[in-house]
Parts: sequence; C-alpha cells; structure tokens
Amino acid sequence: MTASIALIIGSGFESLTGDEPGRVVETRFGDPSAPVHDLTLEGCPLMSIARHGDNHTIPPHAINYRANLVALHELGAKSVLALNTVGVVSDVRDSGQLAVPDQIIDRTWGRAHTIFDGSDGVVEHIEFTEPFANTLRNQLLEAAAAANIDCYDGGVYAATQGPRLESAAEVDCLERDGADYIGMTGMPEAAIARELGLDYACIAMVVNRAAGRGDKPIHDDVEASTLAARTATMALLRAFFMARGMESS
Ligand code: HPA
Repeated sequence: MTASIALIIGSGFESLTGDEPGRVVETRFGDPSAPVHDLTLEGCPLMSIARHGDNHTIPPHAINYRANLVALHELGAKSVLALNTVGVVSDVRDSGQLAVPDQIIDRTWGRAHTIFDGSDGVVEHIEFTEPFANTLRNQLLEAAAAANIDCYDGGVYAATQGPRLESAAEVDCLERDGADYIGMTGMPEAAIARELGLDYACIAMVVNRAAGRGDKPIHDDVEASTLAARTATMALLRAFFMARGMESS
C-alpha cells in the first residue's frame, strides 16, 4: 500500500522516522530538510519528514519548506499532518496541551514562501480564507474525542520569524491581532501545501506560555511541558491512524 498521508515532524519524534535510512529526494526547489521516511502506524502506511533535519540542525527561517512539501507531493502525499510546537497567548490552552488551529497569521519574512515565484511563468493566487483543511481537522478532532484526548478545536496560529522568542510587547501585539498560539514553522508551510493542492492540518503542541504570559522562565516551562505535549500527540496520532485504518479496511 502506498502512503497518501505524510507527517512533518519536529524533534522528539524519532519513533516516527522508521528504521530505514529514508528516501533522498531532489526537487526543483533544492533539497528537503531530510530523507523521507516510510513507516506504518496502527497498520497504516505513512511518510514522514523531519522539518529541522534528522539531527535538528536547521532553524525555522532556513527550512526549505518548498522542497519538503514538493518532495512529499511528488512521492504521492495527498494530505499532510504538521506537528508544530507553540507558545500559548490566550487562555484557551495551557502548557502541555494540544490544539488544532483553524486560522493563521503570517509574521515571517524573507522566506521562500511560494511555488508560484514566476520562475516558470505561472502566476496563481490560491484562496487561503480557510488555511487548514477542515476535513482533516475534523478527523483529528474526532480521533481525539474517541480516544479521550484533550485537544482544543480551533484558534489562531501566528507564525513568527524566530529563531529568537518574542518580546512581551510583540506577544501583546499578536494577542490584539487575535493570535492564540505562536510558533515559528506554520508559515509558509501551510500556504505552500495549499499551492500544491495538499490537505494540511496542524497539531499545535503547547510547550510554553508565550513571552510575558507565564509565571516562570520560558525555557523552564518548555522543559516541564514538552513530554506531556509529545505524549498526547503520539496518542492522538495513534487514534487518528487507527480510525483511518478501520475506514479503509
Ligand atoms: N514563540 C514562538 N515559537 C514557539 C514558542 C513561542 O513562545 N514556543 C514554541 N515555539
């Protein structure tokens, strides 16, 4: 069975890179962050790629988002589940918890952010009113509910440039603009996925309260919360792929 779904993963998910060295893919936009791995979860075939590289050496602004997504697309992916760590701005979530955002704000700059860059004479203005694929989002939320995993439905993901964290005033600014979560990798990934016609949804792993919001240093918060967020994410992925396996059998 070939995989039609891919995971874009961050660090701490080594169990999702399979046992093989992976497939090295070259794309018209250059090299992806890492080889594409093939694996199965709950009996379902899937692909995975480590966004920051297999050894986590690529910072958010230097990731070749286009190459990663084009590689997955060329290998047959139709849907992409993105795992993204975030800081939480509003009270909808707390550190260690999960959310499936439904909106996005892009505050990144200088990243190669489109496959329609004019180089091949094709200009296309994709619709991005609903930046995430609702069918995929709902499948995640249904899987979470069925497995009793606490996962918040919706919220606005704001993508910042990084690699530094935000100032408290920047977080205030993003909160006034409606942000619930802040991460560094959601854009341009979500938009390029849409340009390629891929269904794309994000599992936001809250690992800290955003700058100026928590009662402890951010890195202490991250250290204390990451394991809980990762464990919940693995449980959610297992529930999602179990339901997917039952549907296709
Ligand atoms: N800001 C931006 N990106 C992040 C954060 C944050 O607070 N936490 C995890 N990724």
